[in-house]
Amino acid sequence: MSGYQCACVCVCVCLSVCLSLSLSLPLPLNFCFSLPSPSPCLSVSESFLPVPSPPYPCPSLPCSFPSFRLCLTAHHHCLFLHPQDSPPCTPSDHRMLELSLSWLGFGPVATSPWLLLLVVGTSWLLAHVLAWTYTSYNNSRRLRCFPQPPKRNWFLGHLGLVPPTEQGLSKVTQLVTNYPQGYLMWMGPIIPLVIFCHPDLIRTFASASAAITPKNVIFYNFLKPWLGDGLLLSAGDKWSSHRRLLTPAFHFNILKPYMKIFTKSADIMHAKWQRLITEGHTHLDMFEHISLMTLDSLQKCVFSYDSNCQEKPSDYIAAILELSALVAKRYQQLFLHMDFLYYLTPDGRRFRRACRLVHDFTGAVIQERRCTLPKEDIGDFLKAKEKTKTLDFIDVLLLTKDEDGKGLSDEDIRAEADTFMFEGHDTTASGLSWVLYNLAKHPEYQERCRQEVQELLKDRESKEIEWDDLAQLPFLTMCIKESLRLHPPVTVISRRCTQDIMLPDGRVIPKGVICLISIFGTHHNPSVWPDPEVYDPLRFEPENIKGRSPLAFIPFSAGPRNCIGQAFAMTEMKVVLALTLLRFRVLPDEEEPRRKPELILRAEGGLWLRMELLSTGQQ
Ligand code: HEM
Repeated sequence: MSGYQCACVCVCVCLSVCLSLSLSLPLPLNFCFSLPSPSPCLSVSESFLPVPSPPYPCPSLPCSFPSFRLCLTAHHHCLFLHPQDSPPCTPSDHRMLELSLSWLGFGPVATSPWLLLLVVGTSWLLAHVLAWTYTSYNNSRRLRCFPQPPKRNWFLGHLGLVPPTEQGLSKVTQLVTNYPQGYLMWMGPIIPLVIFCHPDLIRTFASASAAITPKNVIFYNFLKPWLGDGLLLSAGDKWSSHRRLLTPAFHFNILKPYMKIFTKSADIMHAKWQRLITEGHTHLDMFEHISLMTLDSLQKCVFSYDSNCQEKPSDYIAAILELSALVAKRYQQLFLHMDFLYYLTPDGRRFRRACRLVHDFTGAVIQERRCTLPKEDIGDFLKAKEKTKTLDFIDVLLLTKDEDGKGLSDEDIRAEADTFMFEGHDTTASGLSWVLYNLAKHPEYQERCRQEVQELLKDRESKEIEWDDLAQLPFLTMCIKESLRLHPPVTVISRRCTQDIMLPDGRVIPKGVICLISIFGTHHNPSVWPDPEVYDPLRFEPENIKGRSPLAFIPFSAGPRNCIGQAFAMTEMKVVLALTLLRFRVLPDEEEPRRKPELILRAEGGLWLRMELLSTGQQ
């Protein structure tokens, strides 16, 4: 405890003693400050004693004060302070020396451990309130160096100023224009949030260790029962050791064979689109179709499991879709942020049920796979497996070992597999849906991408994208990046400062303050990106990148806790986009979509586009 908190505790103990007296609450401890004889002992004990006075002689415990002795009467939990050199006190002494407060109207009330608990509890609460008030006051003073937009009122602060809607995102764009470095917002009267939207300031967070600026759990806590202590939610040593262990799982040698899975999943989706188009359904919700496709491919990459979920319903996939939707819904229901209330509601019960289903599925796969894995000759096993089929994430997680030869527990593997399924499907689906939207709005770029893909595959029999082809699609890659800039799937991430953090310009963010790194704000900052609302893939041309901070473009975050799956995601997006443009023409819907930043950036009511099937000749 710091000095001022100690002072607060003392103040609070005194306050609660006074409060107990004034409210005629019984004090559990009765203090008798015996003045040197023959002075009368100032005591409040009698007024609170259940029986007139202690019937036993005081056991004369020595007290810590040099000239006083502390006496505790075992029967009444009654404390007395006596001069050290005075003879042991007797019950009659007590009766004679105690000052009765009965004239104040305090009747005899039983003292009990509950009352002691009440006073201690009240003191603790008051101490915290005081400490918190002091910290808030101090922080608000220290945060004055950050500009802040006008508050809604003194109580709400900026709460509700940026709702998770189209208007909210327009507001962010406006705020970023007015405060290009970042700004301060108050959630209610006492919770500050510092929002950063400029690479110069984001650098401080990107270069800080994960221990100094850990994730702020508030934003992710609802996912905990589902994802457990997986990479996204874990912290400290567990996170750093798992991050080290899991990084090789995203090595390109592991990712290469996944190209076939991406192609197969895209083929299934395209066959479905073709069927729908021939039946006259040309308006399609990209989110609906692409989420199923990314889940399908992830399920194959993580578990080597084909649920055929794009064609027929799968319980497991339905549970994941339901969990994502329930988490997003819960964010909007402030009262249901409390676990005990949430789990009483039908949604809470559905959430529990879906979690159980997902965990059972993952657990069963792990158990089954553990039995088939060899204890030795891992090298031969891997070679054999590479020949027959792809090495899935579960295999990699089961085989992974640290320097001491320690592997991951089943619980850890389950959490990581569930995390990959969650983190990997919605984000990639959002990225792909919005790039199709942007290309639908800009047919000239769409056509250029298509020509690039056609050129690449022109002399090939099989229209499949190979690993080495990925580098041969520069314009398509630029279109994906520009879309991730304009429509970043993850719009904001949060960090908590565990110590004072100094920014390059000398300003300090006090310890304990929560900071938001606004990915959307940075990508829409006119001082970083001229004409930020314009979709212009040429911004990512090599010569245009020169001189721009790498932190100006952070769809996958930056620093130690950046996205571990970004290579996976970029590979999948390139393969699926290339094949889609080869087979279909994408046109905008009549109605403009309204952006909706939930856990990821969606569109209200879905992202609808018109699809046209290209003839074989056009392909
Ligand atoms: C376009 C697709 C994707 C985007 C935009 C994206 C974005 C992000 C962002 C911004 C973070 C940082 C979150 C934070 O700091 O709070 C993150 C973390 C993470 N992402 Fe992704 N992601 C994508 C795809 C994927 C895929 C495909 C996987 C796995 C298969 C994945 C797995 C993870 C994991 C495990 C973390 C936590 C990393 C850690 O804390 O060490 N992501 N992602």
